[in-house]
Amino acid sequence: MTPALEIHDLTVAFDRKPVLWNIDLMIPEGKLVGIIGPNGAGKSTLIKAMMGILPLSSGYVKIFDKPLDDIRDRISYVPQRESVDWDFPASVLDVVLMGRYSKLGLFKRPRKADRDAALECIKKVGMEGFINRQISQLSGGQQQRTFLARALAQQADMYFMDEPFAGVDAATEKAIVTLLRNMTAQNKTVIVVHHDLQSVSQYFDWVIMLNTRLVAAGPTATTFTSKNLETTYGGKLTLLTDVADLMRRENYPSREENIIQP
Ligand SMILES: Nc1ncnc2c1ncn2[C@@H]1O[C@H](COP(=O)(O)OP(=O)(O)OP(=O)(O)O)[C@@H](O)[C@H]1O
Ligand SMILES: [Mg+2]
Repeated sequence: MTPALEIHDLTVAFDRKPVLWNIDLMIPEGKLVGIIGPNGAGKSTLIKAMMGILPLSSGYVKIFDKPLDDIRDRISYVPQRESVDWDFPASVLDVVLMGRYSKLGLFKRPRKADRDAALECIKKVGMEGFINRQISQLSGGQQQRTFLARALAQQADMYFMDEPFAGVDAATEKAIVTLLRNMTAQNKTVIVVHHDLQSVSQYFDWVIMLNTRLVAAGPTATTFTSKNLETTYGGKLTLLTDVADLMRRENYPSREENIIQP
């Protein structure tokens, strides 16, 4: 089997200080993948390195068995919300149409087909009531959904999303997870930075546990263990108590369900 993504001996440093150290991993095609780890663990840096938008100190990344430059139009990126300039003058439709640019030839204007595709994606994320709204005038969750629509409009084969659920309400989060599931069902690979440990087992097929070094990567069922969580978040006591709770709940899912059901 050819992996969808393969990383070998990856090190990334800022001012000679490594923030990702000697990472080796592979991700199979068609999986919903969670990247988890504490603040500053290097999650966003890993995504940027995988996309080739940061210089690597060592190692290589291959996507669909090709170097990044050969498959750039098959990958799509939803940045972490804080890193976007929301004052940039653009409407929701403008932003989503930007997702079509890689499909357009040089100097070609978007055609009706591109506009229709963009509108379709706007509908998928429930933003059809805001098509002409400036992005600076959207709520945080609406901004997040707009960027998701832009990624969808790209019709890529691999998607990188940096905390797509940050600042999104529970119903929207559910809708987005369903959307991501539909994408993986069509054999797209979706890689998501995620902070909520409670939902990791439910959402992801595969997890990457990171803290500068790779702690573990693999199928969620065998990789998302209390031991790996301790190594990943080590020393943060309150959190480890939460994790212990979480693991207890994982072991007794039926009891827990009985408790929350009326
Ligand atoms: N451009 C930069 N220059 C110098 N250091 C940086 C730069 N970008 C990130 N870092 C540092 O690299 C480390 C990893 O940052 P990164 O943004 O990847 O963390 P993260 O896991 O995404 O954290 P968060 O959960 O807070 O988003 C941090 O210590 C950060 O301060
Ligand atoms: Mg980050």
